[in-house]
Amino acid sequence: MNEAVQTSSTFTPRVFSGIQPSGNLHLGNYLGALKRFVDMQSDELQTLYCMVDMHAITVWQNPADLQQATRELCAGFIAAGLDPAKSILFNQSQVPEHAQLAWVFNCVARMGWMQRMTQWKDKAGKNQQNASLGLFAYPALMAADILIYHATQVPVGEDQKQHLELTRDIATKFNHDYGVDFFPITEPVIEGAATRVMSFRDGSKKMSKSDPSDASRINMTDDADTIAKKIRKAKTDPDGLPSEAKGLEERPEARNLVNIYAALADKTVDQVLADVGGKQFSEFKPMLADVAVEKLAPISTEMARLMQDTSEIDRILAHGAQQAREIASPILARTYEIVGMVGAGK
Ligand code: AMP
Ligand code: TRP
Repeated sequence: MNEAVQTSSTFTPRVFSGIQPSGNLHLGNYLGALKRFVDMQSDELQTLYCMVDMHAITVWQNPADLQQATRELCAGFIAAGLDPAKSILFNQSQVPEHAQLAWVFNCVARMGWMQRMTQWKDKAGKNQQNASLGLFAYPALMAADILIYHATQVPVGEDQKQHLELTRDIATKFNHDYGVDFFPITEPVIEGAATRVMSFRDGSKKMSKSDPSDASRINMTDDADTIAKKIRKAKTDPDGLPSEAKGLEERPEARNLVNIYAALADKTVDQVLADVGGKQFSEFKPMLADVAVEKLAPISTEMARLMQDTSEIDRILAHGAQQAREIASPILARTYEIVGMVGAGK
């Protein structure tokens, strides 16, 4: 048994999260996830952030596009403020322990658990028989991503809550079935003013890269004019802004824009409304556009600069994968040993 592997009474806090390299980063990814990753980066805490390319291929990805998107996502991580000297930044497929632990978890998780996942139901749609087996098993791979590092905290947007509950269920069942206290029960970190950024066209739908309308979202690669134009055209209601959060109930579009402003400006919704209560959207939207451009434009400029040297990005990913494997490999060996696999733990 490897002495470096901890049991749950002694888990040191460790942060893990991932984003799929499938299309452009958008404002929802930034406020719900990436900005929160940066906020959690600290000298006291080990942070691992992953481009989850194996999750991306659960639906068809053109190989050349996947490569480009993975490097671009890494550039986005760094441009947003993640520092490869402080956080381990890496690509999922370069750390084979994720897939190896996922297989064990495929044998722990139950079909019924997977069938209840709303993301599975949404993504598979009416034609479940034709969806990939990987799309169905996706949450077991996600649990493996987290638990292969014994991660204790996982910053994500609201839409990932159910998957994190399933991660806890898998850890609990594994510990129970094998009579061990080996995997930690992970805490989701769903915080900030914008944990669920909604579409600019329809306040009842989340902002998403798969929405066919480009006007529904702000992409991290949009230039200042495009950002301002999309905000100007964002759907709102005819009323002005309230001075208290209560006044945003039943007003999803208005609430969304206020949440976005608060998250970008690092303020609470109450602080924002104390300043802008009583204004019309014709006055508020240009303020929102200003703060969005001020915060997002430098990120997209830096992303473009980093993408000019993809060999440097590949070097960062290779180094990150090596650091990640040092943590993952003893945890996988111990897992195999617990399960009863001969030759494990050597
Ligand atoms: P994905 O692009 O699906 O890999 O999502 C990466 C991260 O972004 C996850 O933590 C999601 O919860 C988060 N995310 C995606 N869309 C949104 C949204 N509209 N609002 C807030 N967070 C989001
Ligand atoms: N499923 C997440 C999403 O689509 C991405 C993801 C994969 C992830 N593995 C993870 C997020 C582990 C947090 C932790 O957004």
